[in-house]
Amino acid sequence: MTHTFWASFKETLSLIGLNWKVKFRNFAEFMRVIFHYYPNTQFLKIDISLLLSYLFSNPFGVSKQFLMHKGEENVYTYGETPLTTLAVIAKHCQLTPHDVVFELGCGRGRTCFWLHQFIGCQVVGVEYVPTFIHKAQHIKERFQVQGVSFRLDDLFQTDLQGATVIYLYGTCFSDDEIRRLIQRFSQLPVGTKIITVSYALRDIQPEAPFSILKQFAVPFTWGTADVYLQVKQ
Ligand SMILES: C[S@@+](CC[C@H](N)C(=O)[O-])C[C@H]1O[C@@H](n2cnc3c(N)ncnc32)[C@H](O)[C@@H]1O
Repeated sequence: MTHTFWASFKETLSLIGLNWKVKFRNFAEFMRVIFHYYPNTQFLKIDISLLLSYLFSNPFGVSKQFLMHKGEENVYTYGETPLTTLAVIAKHCQLTPHDVVFELGCGRGRTCFWLHQFIGCQVVGVEYVPTFIHKAQHIKERFQVQGVSFRLDDLFQTDLQGATVIYLYGTCFSDDEIRRLIQRFSQLPVGTKIITVSYALRDIQPEAPFSILKQFAVPFTWGTADVYLQVKQ
């Protein structure tokens, strides 16, 4: 009995500690975003508008509602790539203004706007949560952002034609779902770059036709993750 009490007490304390750690990391990230990216006034306007549009319904809640309505068991799958982490990923993967980046599961589209604004590439954000796409589309039109488009679609089925780079931050996908994606990515032209977070495609299917060009660790608010840059052979 005493043992169970102490075990659950310790677990509660560690959860509270983790919660504060994440809050602190979010705050530090926000400060870095202000310092590095808000001097770009177009991005400042876009990012603040995006922030305000989720003032009364944060993206985690929007995603949770959508997944509950869909009848999913795990409704806590939403997460975002911190912009300073995205900058490290873009640098390692040598993204250029000539790239067409397909972000599969783009969430509220913040990363799409950043990629276009700071790398200069064309970005296609694919997402199945309607609220995310409607709000992102509204901001795109309001600030006349030509190089970003949003698609309300299932990432397992969406047309990937034109992509030179795929960015996939989908750590909650099952092995079967990743195998489905591997099948689709196998149809991509030779040389297409595929960036995945936490796992390499070949971890799931060793004979998949992709070679790993680079593996590097980057910070997320929940901890450190390995990112894999792969190229279609
Ligand atoms: C972990 S979040 C990543 C958000 C964003 N890419 C980022 O890095 O900040 C994964 C996103 O994929 C979306 N998603 C998951 N399954 C999907 C599917 N089958 N079709 C389209 N979007 C999907 C989720 O709704 C969520 O917004």
